[in-house]
Amino acid sequence: MGFVERKKSFPALLLLPLALSLLFLERFTVIYALNYTNYKQVSSLRLKRIHRHLDKINKPAVITIESPDGDIIDCVHKRKQPALDHPLLKNHKIQRVPSEMPRVKVMNKEEEEEEGGKEPKEMMMSNEGVKGAWQLWHTNGTRCPKGTVPIRRSTVHDVLRAKSLFDFGKKQRSLSLARRSDAPDVVSGKGHEHAIAYTGTSQEVYGAKATINVWDPSIQLVNEFSLSQIWVLSGSFDGSDLNSIEAGWQVSPELYGDSRPRLFTYWTSDSYQATGCYNLLCAGFVQTNNRIAIGAAISPVSSYAGNQYDITILIWKDPKLGNWWMGFGDNTLVGYWPAELFTHLADHATMVEWGGEVVNSRANGLHTSTQMGSGHFAEDGFGKASYFRNLEIVDSDNSLTSAQAISILAENTNCYNIKSSYNNEWGTHFYYGGPGNNPQCP
Ligand SMILES: *[C@@H]1O[C@H](CO)[C@@H](O)[C@H](O)[C@H]1NC(C)=O
Ligand SMILES: *[C@@H]1O[C@H](CO)[C@@H](O)[C@H](O)[C@H]1NC(C)=O
Repeated sequence: MGFVERKKSFPALLLLPLALSLLFLERFTVIYALNYTNYKQVSSLRLKRIHRHLDKINKPAVITIESPDGDIIDCVHKRKQPALDHPLLKNHKIQRVPSEMPRVKVMNKEEEEEEGGKEPKEMMMSNEGVKGAWQLWHTNGTRCPKGTVPIRRSTVHDVLRAKSLFDFGKKQRSLSLARRSDAPDVVSGKGHEHAIAYTGTSQEVYGAKATINVWDPSIQLVNEFSLSQIWVLSGSFDGSDLNSIEAGWQVSPELYGDSRPRLFTYWTSDSYQATGCYNLLCAGFVQTNNRIAIGAAISPVSSYAGNQYDITILIWKDPKLGNWWMGFGDNTLVGYWPAELFTHLADHATMVEWGGEVVNSRANGLHTSTQMGSGHFAEDGFGKASYFRNLEIVDSDNSLTSAQAISILAENTNCYNIKSSYNNEWGTHFYYGGPGNNPQCP
């Protein structure tokens, strides 16, 4: 089944060129669907191209670790990681640590009382019962040796789920960057929907932090996704020069072949056009940590009215060397985006966004039931709706302060919404999300 049928009644004259071409093209191979991979006919030529690409991005492993979800984690020597294939990073010296961590600004007592008085304390606001989420592959027990970094191996199936080899690991380019002039720098349209908080545009920003509740929203169609992340942006959406650094968790059947929430990173320096990619799927991000695999499943995940799990992400610019570092959890450094990758961000960011994004492809003319966050609206609150807490900004003096004067946006609050608030323990925070399709969101 699936082999290309060849007519048996070819005139003899045509047989020779046919035989010759067969020598080169060989026969067609059938790749069967495993989970989200569609059954497809793949020419051996295409398979060869895919393998060539995979050989380039999958680096030789010192050891290999198998995760219960089927992921293969390769422990790759630091100097062999994909980042260093970037033409601008040929002679790059890998930084072990940033020159300094952002300082936490300590508010004096009066200020704190003033801030705390703004909002009534919410119920269940204590962080008791909230736990940090870790990664599923750690249950294997084997660790990556010192001097190596764990990298999720890409498979032929991963590539076959993408629209093309070119599209693999890239963000879908949004053709229309036209946005409402009062909206922040999000690329709406093409089915992308958001529920986000964002800072004013006139600010110079050197980083951002937040603790993000982790859920496993359901995705209706393989090419839709649901993510919760931080965006650090500079440049303009109207031109082709937007610089963006992004990190958080995402559920993307197309990218990963399953419906688990996974830690991800993303960068671009030209408005999602030619540069940048997810995770380590192209040269760029330099990983320094040997415990965290970018693109690996986060575990455990929060449950409705049950245990809540969250991840803390910090992105900031090293004031001396200009690299943009990523921190995970309390004090773990994951790695950095070298300053060389960027234009505007080589200086500073002009906006930060926090929140959720989904793709709704309106299959059959209806809003799909792809969920954002936990799949529940913001007003359901703790344990039911997903949250971002302790939203913070890194200032020009490399200090962390609570994000003040944020605005919020959701394109269609009948599908997904957001509600922000402030208190002492969770600082600036918000609940967000929704179910997508419902009677009010047809
Ligand atoms: C994915 O494949 C595995 C075995 O290959 C199977 O056990 C599992 O049920 C499949 N999951 C989905 C969502 O189809
Ligand atoms: C851990 O990974 C190794 C190497 O792939 C594999 O042989 C082993 O079965 C895995 N162990 C567990 C407990 O999953």
